[in-house]
This record gives sequence, structure tokens and C-alpha cells, in this order.
Amino acid sequence: MTTTIELAGKVALVTGSGNGIGRATAKALAQAGAKVCVSDAIAADGARTVQEITDAGGSAIFVEADISVEAQVKALVDAAVSAFGGLDILVNNAGIGGAQKRLHEVETAEFSRVLDVNLLGTFFMTKYTIPHFLKAGGGSIVNIASTYGLVGAPKAPAYCATKGGIINLTRQLAVDYGPDNIRVNAICPGYIDTSLGRRGPTLTEEQFKEATARREKAAGMQPLGRQAQPIEVGNVVVFLSSPNASFMTGSIVTVDGGCVTTFNYGEASN
Ligand SMILES: NC(=O)c1ccc[n+]([C@@H]2O[C@H](COP(=O)([O-])OP(=O)(O)OC[C@H]3O[C@@H](n4cnc5c(N)ncnc54)[C@H](O)[C@@H]3O)[C@@H](O)[C@H]2O)c1
Repeated sequence: MTTTIELAGKVALVTGSGNGIGRATAKALAQAGAKVCVSDAIAADGARTVQEITDAGGSAIFVEADISVEAQVKALVDAAVSAFGGLDILVNNAGIGGAQKRLHEVETAEFSRVLDVNLLGTFFMTKYTIPHFLKAGGGSIVNIASTYGLVGAPKAPAYCATKGGIINLTRQLAVDYGPDNIRVNAICPGYIDTSLGRRGPTLTEEQFKEATARREKAAGMQPLGRQAQPIEVGNVVVFLSSPNASFMTGSIVTVDGGCVTTFNYGEASN
């Protein structure tokens, strides 16, 4: 076993890879030698990721899909397999934050939308990928959960519920598919400097500045005292997807600067 991560000959599919953690992950997987199917609900963002990968000498295609729509997920997986001849790595990354409200203030439609994208989307992606892994004799799934799936965090009922669900779904899938050489692990990111981290791409400049300052203050209270860049999660995805992590399955890996080792969420955390 070498310490270099080598994914040449592997095919990876990363949902939500038009931005943030997914984009950094797709680029890192390509850099390690994988052919990457970039997917996102926003075509222009996904196309930019593909351009960046191919500019760097990597191999990638873009397939537009909303992971909460079953027919689009099926078409996405089929497209990845037919473009590259198979599928070895799935990164269930796409997710949304939902309304920042206490539960009794949340509209049913708002709650459902977070469930549909974060949990049902993960179900659809996994459901249509597993048959290809079974055919290939194995594969790796990395689910991007959250520290908010490990603890109760303020004003995020749907988000916390879905991320907690993804964490235990990860363990459950590890049990069912271990005998098929399919490894399933989850990452719980903490404060990562992305649009979702700042609670949405639609902020005004003033709101953006305010949200960024609040985030930085909250992240500053954690052991490593800062937000992470998306690639700091992407690097761990690459490791978990690789043969270097061959005995890891059902693992819930925090990538959070020590966040959940402390007792301190701080009132600035939302
Ligand atoms: N940023 C953080 O601090 C943080 C912390 C913990 C967990 N996470 C998780 O990391 C993952 C990535 O988040 P991010 O911070 O990079 O967010 P981001 O908003 O920067 O990127 C998310 C991407 O997913 C896409 N997307 C959203 N809904 C989709 C759908 N229905 N179908 C397909 N694509 C969709 C968006 O278009 C976007 O490109 C999410 O699952 C999020 O919950 C993020």
C-alpha cells in the first residue's frame, strides 16, 4: 500500500458539484486520476466545474439533475455509466439548509423540501448506483452529512433531522452491502466557507457581510478557530473513496476543526 492516493481507472459521480464542497471534491477526485461525472441542479455552475477539471488535464462530464426527482436521478446515473463505462465512487454531497426557524414556525412545504433533497435525494442516488456497484464487484459511497446531524443546533429542525438520518443510513448501508465489497462512509463537516454555510446564495451584499462575520465569529470559538475551505473536506472524501481506506465502512468522520469535541456552539452559530 502506498501513501499516494491513486484513483486512475475509477469513475466518480459527485452530486451538487457546481459549488462549494462538491466542486472542490470533484476537482480533487479528478486530480487523483478519477473520471468524474459532475452533477448539479444549476447547469452553469456544473459546467464551470467541468471546465476547471478539463483545463487541469482531467476528465469530466456534466449532467444536470435535481436529486429530489427520481427520474432525473435514474437518468443521471445511466448517463455517468454510459459515458465512462461504469461507476466506482458515489459522493452524495448535494444538500440544502432550509429555513432558519424553530419547528412550529416552519411551513410543511419548507420541511418537506429539505427532506426531499437531503434524504430522499440520497436514497434515490444510492438506489440507482448500487446495482452498478454490485455488477462491478464493489464500490464506495461517501455521504456528506453534517455536525448538525450529531448534535441539536439552533433553528435548523429539518436540516438536523435529515443529516441525522443520513448518518444512520450510512451505518445501515454499511451493514447491508459490506458483504458485496461496497463501503459506505459519511463525513460531518463543521464550519466550511461556502454559500450554504452562509445560508444561501441569495443574500444581499449587506446580508452576506453580516452572515460571514457571524460565521467567522462562531468558527472562531471552535478548537481550530476558523472556517475551513471546501477542499479540506474534499481531501477526506478522496481518501475515503480510495483503496487507502479499504477497511473503513460505516465510519462517521468529523471534518470540523474540533467543533463537536467542544460544548460551545455560541449564540453566533446561526
Ligand atoms: N458549508 C458548510 O458549512 C457545511 C457544513 C456541514 C455540511 N455541509 C453539507 O455539505 C454539502 C455541500 O454543501 P456546500 O456547503 O458545498 O453548499 P453549496 O450551496 O455551496 O453547494 C451545494 C450545491 O448543491 C446543489 N444543489 C442543491 N440542491 C440540489 C438538488 N436538489 N439537486 C442537485 N443539486 C443541488 C447546489 O446547486 C449547489 O451547487 C451539503 O450536503 C451540506 O449540507 C456543509
